[in-house]
Amino acid sequence: MEKEGTETRNQSRLAILELANMISVPMSLNAVVRLNVADAIWQGGSNTPLSAAQIISRVLHSGGDAENLQRILRMLASYGVFEEYLSEGERKYSLTDVGKTLVTDEDGLSYAPYVLQHHQDALMRAWPLVHEAVVDPNKEPFERANGEPAYGYYSKQPEMNELMVKAMSGVSVPFMRAMLEGYDGFQGVERLVDVGGSGGDCLRMILQKTPNVKEGINFDLPEVVAKAPQIPGVTHVGGDMFKSIPQGDAIFMKWVLTTWTDEECKQIMKNCYKSLPEGGKLIACEPVLPEHSDDSHRTRALLEGDIFVMTIYRAKGKHRTEEQFKQLAISVGFPSFRSFHVDHFYTVLEFQK
Ligand SMILES: C[S@@+](CC[C@H](N)C(=O)[O-])C[C@H]1O[C@@H](n2cnc3c(N)ncnc32)[C@H](O)[C@@H]1O
Repeated sequence: MEKEGTETRNQSRLAILELANMISVPMSLNAVVRLNVADAIWQGGSNTPLSAAQIISRVLHSGGDAENLQRILRMLASYGVFEEYLSEGERKYSLTDVGKTLVTDEDGLSYAPYVLQHHQDALMRAWPLVHEAVVDPNKEPFERANGEPAYGYYSKQPEMNELMVKAMSGVSVPFMRAMLEGYDGFQGVERLVDVGGSGGDCLRMILQKTPNVKEGINFDLPEVVAKAPQIPGVTHVGGDMFKSIPQGDAIFMKWVLTTWTDEECKQIMKNCYKSLPEGGKLIACEPVLPEHSDDSHRTRALLEGDIFVMTIYRAKGKHRTEEQFKQLAISVGFPSFRSFHVDHFYTVLEFQK
């Protein structure tokens, strides 16, 4: 009994040490992305295990410290990003399925820009202030650290906006492939508006897959659409969703409501309602929180994203449950609600006027 108690205490101390040192994990992940390690190992699909010295010779023109890279790779191997092979004292690394998400695909996309986007200096400055969101939720830690809210700050830094667009594409394109396989709610829609559509990837994919959608309106902040690429059938429109939203047969919105407070969400949804015809749909794809907390990758990714929103965008912006989304929609007049679970991270929420 006594022995068991000691063992439990020891495991608890190890667990708290692991948590206290956890910052090494995302920062090392950021380091391997900055060093382009995944593409160096992948080499067009070979994924041959390489030593740190071999990786360095592929990613740096000269110099580099192989021992330090090995320390980073070894730690990330224990988090399932790399597979480690130990033979006669030499360590080599290939990519696991998790590591492969960082490899640049034929369209130039991966999850790597999302990792970089989350670890830019301005965002990092906000993290030591998370407790301030508890003390006073009227100002998010990002604003406390940088003097203004995140989107206003990005708008003055073109490279931050560019990285945001790239990060969104890297995450959204694989999701859209899954969504368009499992969801047919765009039937009968000819003019579709994407609110907060970033570079227009979601609309491009919807138009390619759904011939009845003839016209796409990609609506985002003026500085974002100014850099968006030409896409056949898509018109980029700059504006502010809190003021008004272009009219369409249906409105699509992905990863937008999460960022805002309940009152701000109501304002956005009210503007959507006004721009829809009778029977028109608002189709929102959002991370939706489960009711119960557990230690699955899904629940952790959703709960961690919730704290990210609280820290960077709005102290009272949040990941919500399906019921919370439903109540927001009812409060602005949408009588009908359906949900579709076509992806692990996002849920498709359909609100009909
Ligand atoms: C998390 S991103 C999602 C981008 C895209 N929907 C996707 O999922 O790939 C949120 C988007 O909302 C846009 N946004 C923020 N404030 C906005 C506003 N007031 N009016 C219109 N768009 C806005 C941002 O520029 C950004 O592109």
